[in-house]
Amino acid sequence: MCGIVGYVGNKNAQEVIIDGLEKLEYRGYDSSGVGIIENGKLRVRKMAGRLSNLEKSLEENPINGNVGIGHTRWATHGIPSDINSHPHTNSSGTIAVVHNGIIENYREIKEDLEKNGYKFISDTDTEVVAHLIDFFYDGDLLEAVFKAEDRLKGAYALAIVSENNPDEIVAVRNESPLILGVGENETIVASDIPAVLKYTKKVVYLDNKDIIRITKAGYEVYDKDRKKVNRRSEEISWDVESASKEGYAHFMLKEIYQQPTAIRDTVERRIDEKGNIVLENISITKEVLEKINKIYIVACGTAYHAGLIGKYLFQTFLKVDTIADIASEFRYSEHNIDENTLVVIVSQSGETADTLQALKDAKEKGARILSITNVVGSSIARESDDVFYTWAGPEIAVASTKAYTTQLVAFYLMALHFGRLKNTIELTCYEEILNELRTLPEKLQITLSECDKKAKNISETIKDKQSVFYLGRGLDYYTALEGALKLKEISYIHTEAFPAGELKHGSIALIEEGTPVIAFATQSLIYDKIVSNIKEVKARGAYVVGVTRKKNEDLKEICDEVVLLEESFNIFMPLISVVVAQLISYYTALLKGNDVDKPRNLAKSVTVE
Ligand code: F6R
Repeated sequence: MCGIVGYVGNKNAQEVIIDGLEKLEYRGYDSSGVGIIENGKLRVRKMAGRLSNLEKSLEENPINGNVGIGHTRWATHGIPSDINSHPHTNSSGTIAVVHNGIIENYREIKEDLEKNGYKFISDTDTEVVAHLIDFFYDGDLLEAVFKAEDRLKGAYALAIVSENNPDEIVAVRNESPLILGVGENETIVASDIPAVLKYTKKVVYLDNKDIIRITKAGYEVYDKDRKKVNRRSEEISWDVESASKEGYAHFMLKEIYQQPTAIRDTVERRIDEKGNIVLENISITKEVLEKINKIYIVACGTAYHAGLIGKYLFQTFLKVDTIADIASEFRYSEHNIDENTLVVIVSQSGETADTLQALKDAKEKGARILSITNVVGSSIARESDDVFYTWAGPEIAVASTKAYTTQLVAFYLMALHFGRLKNTIELTCYEEILNELRTLPEKLQITLSECDKKAKNISETIKDKQSVFYLGRGLDYYTALEGALKLKEISYIHTEAFPAGELKHGSIALIEEGTPVIAFATQSLIYDKIVSNIKEVKARGAYVVGVTRKKNEDLKEICDEVVLLEESFNIFMPLISVVVAQLISYYTALLKGNDVDKPRNLAKSVTVE
């Protein structure tokens, strides 16, 4: 997610902005830039790469001024590059804009502006804002922003400077975070509180659609109806570290709780006005789909678990044989891959070495490569024919949570979209499933608030155990695999996941008095079967936690604890039930005193084989 800092005051704007951007580094970024008014002229410096590169350039060749904006970019539209970095300016270089979010209707605006003679130089959605403000500009920056904002759709926080209004910044907040820091003869606008804490503890929270004019003397806020409104400042008592976690104790917990929003973003930005799925950056046509006779899904770890669910969805909705494989295994096995094979690569970071090499091998054999990744411009995205960006925002905790659930959403959307293209799904079925998919953010929100306390209690029971077993059948088995990985990687407790029907072929020998077993029982068609498996382990003394739908309250009779989930279609239950596994892992690691966000021996991005 991008970071914004804007400063108006008596201090050196460059120093305050760079300091603020450093505090926003936790948000993740791939490029940075500033736009500062120096002696009445707007000067912009921006570049791809680390913030330290920009800092060095500004140290060597400073921009001296007291009014300016700065940005760290986390790419969504257009690869990380100097040109795509923010600020973006109008053609005459008098107006500069920084942006966090996505302008959904940028193509439409761009076409209109092009008809009016405007020329674009970047691949970003943000550049349209600079030209649009220029189009409306008539001497009053605030008025021009009012008019421009009327045309924008999407989520956006913006900060804008103009050399013709050299004493002010105009900013907009709509669905993307933006706050004000109010100091003595200085005002700072920023994406998050840590960026302002060094200068002031007085913070103003803004509402959606607020447009703000900031000057040395203070700030004016205009609401969605352009009425001047009062937004009072509040005194902050947090330190910088806890502020970047937005009040959560750890990034992992914050990311678990961000899932409803992340999923909503991943889904809603891909639905057009008619309610159909539109997949940007994917050019697979009906003709291409009809030729594809085999699909491989290749990934590592958590991303592989998402791939297992993807396999089920592709087989069901596309009627094409699909194999999910672990990248480090796939690389060293024999496959019959040719130009009629689709290889789907799943990687949050887009940099995992084994996954990247598997991609290259498959590409060499002629396969079409479709990747699902969270990082725009990553190596995997660049090597692929088609890309689905999950847009989950940067994931900082090593244990993957929101990346996983948005990868599931990617598979749901692609399976539905391709199934419709190929005519292997009826229109009514497509509509019904898509409508249900759109309810999931809310269902996830309810599940999180209802299950948090129970997860904490379960963690108390399992925290000192030697081993924890996870059971499931069908899609629930894949959730069991993900639950087991999540717990072992941060709690260091030995865990294993079993397909419940396999237990009696050997593994049930491990069950003894008090052995914790977490059983997922969400799949209606095989519910009775998993109930029998639960009884088998219970009869051997296991402490059983059943995770099931609200309608299956009867499970309470045979389990020690039952976690009840919101109802949805069978295919969507893995997305709901996995949050229970995430919470149990989080609280268990916490109770054990482990470093939750940075577990031992693990790295966020595994760029070695
Ligand atoms: C587990 C986890 C890892 C990653 C795996 C692949 O919580 O995060 O198992 O899923 O290392 O990483 P990416 O998705 O970046 O390729």
